[in-house]
Amino acid sequence: MSCIPRHVALIMDGNGRWAQAHGLPRHEGHRRGASVVKKILRASEKIGIKYVTFFAFSSENFSRPKSEVTFLMNLCEKFFKKYRKTICEKEIRFRAIGNLSQLPLTLQLAIEELTSSTVCFDRFHITVALNYGSRNEVVHAMESLLNDKDVNIRDLTWKNFEQYLYTKDLPDPDLIIRTSGEQRLSNFLLLQSAYAELYFTKTYWPDFGEKEFLLAIEDYGARERRMGKINDKTNN
Ligand code: IPE
Ligand code: IPE
Ligand code: MG
Repeated sequence: MSCIPRHVALIMDGNGRWAQAHGLPRHEGHRRGASVVKKILRASEKIGIKYVTFFAFSSENFSRPKSEVTFLMNLCEKFFKKYRKTICEKEIRFRAIGNLSQLPLTLQLAIEELTSSTVCFDRFHITVALNYGSRNEVVHAMESLLNDKDVNIRDLTWKNFEQYLYTKDLPDPDLIIRTSGEQRLSNFLLLQSAYAELYFTKTYWPDFGEKEFLLAIEDYGARERRMGKINDKTNN
């Protein structure tokens, strides 16, 4: 494959519509969606992507019915506990981004355990965005910045501002994939995606898999990323 993105972020959307289309309750869509995460991780490792980030729950998703929110929180917790051993054995670095302090305590604990036990790994990085929203992230960053006595606000640059974001240890995403046909970012990595390539597919997340993921990677490889500059070939 030509050019492999370093960091791919995925907006896993369409679980509810997938369930509805199959005459199933919404939570069945979420359950099946969780198994797709494994497939994407396997494919990413195979082709040499180093950072993969999943949008699992937005700050706005807390406005959904309580039963759905509880189901999603439990699903995440079970997933983290189930794969903890494998993640550690495979020396995968795990991170969670978002306002984690509002998550159920048992989920916070599972996150903390995974995060701390993988902190020294650098081979492959998995990040899960939970109770994440870019606008909240900016407000949180501003609060931390203003509380930091070492910062002179007049000398502020993007490079030091980004150190206050939840994503401070991650490179910007090169490619953002959204499933389900919606063509929006829904408050996901708005600042970090400044030069990300966007890929939209109509496939609902539970039906997404390695084949389509590789198509997205191939599509990315064919794009020209100019980052505001001009192409050398046209620069004559
Ligand atoms: C994505 O699927 C999962 C979450 C947002 C947590 P949805 O639950 O948004 O599914 P649709 O968009 O209603 O089909
Ligand atoms: C975005 O999906 C959040 C996640 C995939 C976790 P939503 O279903 O919440 O987004 P909207 O409401 O369609 O924009
Ligand atoms: Mg949705």
